[in-house]
Amino acid sequence: MGNQTFAIIKPDAVSKGYTGKIYDRIIQAGFNILSAKLLKLNNDQAKGFYSVHRERPFFNDLINFMTSGPCMVLVLNKPNAVRAWRETIGATNPDEAEENTIRKDFASNVQENAVHGSDSDENAEKEIAFFFTDSELLTNQ
Ligand code: RTP
Ligand code: MG
Repeated sequence: MGNQTFAIIKPDAVSKGYTGKIYDRIIQAGFNILSAKLLKLNNDQAKGFYSVHRERPFFNDLINFMTSGPCMVLVLNKPNAVRAWRETIGATNPDEAEENTIRKDFASNVQENAVHGSDSDENAEKEIAFFFTDSELLTNQ
């Protein structure tokens, strides 16, 4: 298993002022942050990032949501990072998320669910490359 994953603090969480609290959860869970930036996705970026969902009924809503305001994109480092981060964030739908997970504590609903996490090492690598150059990661500085 790889030791890097890609995370987004989504526009709902940023606009509600949860960025700092979510950073605390990241640190408490033992991740090192290798890079981070605040940006507002444009339509093409959001559609490209979530292209796997383009046929899903919620796709247009998802794109509107993800472009609605600034979000924070991050590269996280920890052994088995993909699985560890998915456990830290909890289920997609906060009603189904475990106690003390980020989505349980900060998500509003199944769409506005506070954070993103890669679902495989392969996708983590692709998603990191979508937003960051190699030289932007602390491990390469
Ligand atoms: P993510 O990719 O953002 O980490 O979330 P996930 O793996 O837990 O869930 P996924 O199935 O990949 O869905 C991507 C995002 O689409 C929105 N969504 N809306 N309205 C709906 O039923 C619905 N289902 C999913 C969420 O923002 C979800 O995180
Ligand atoms: Mg997903």
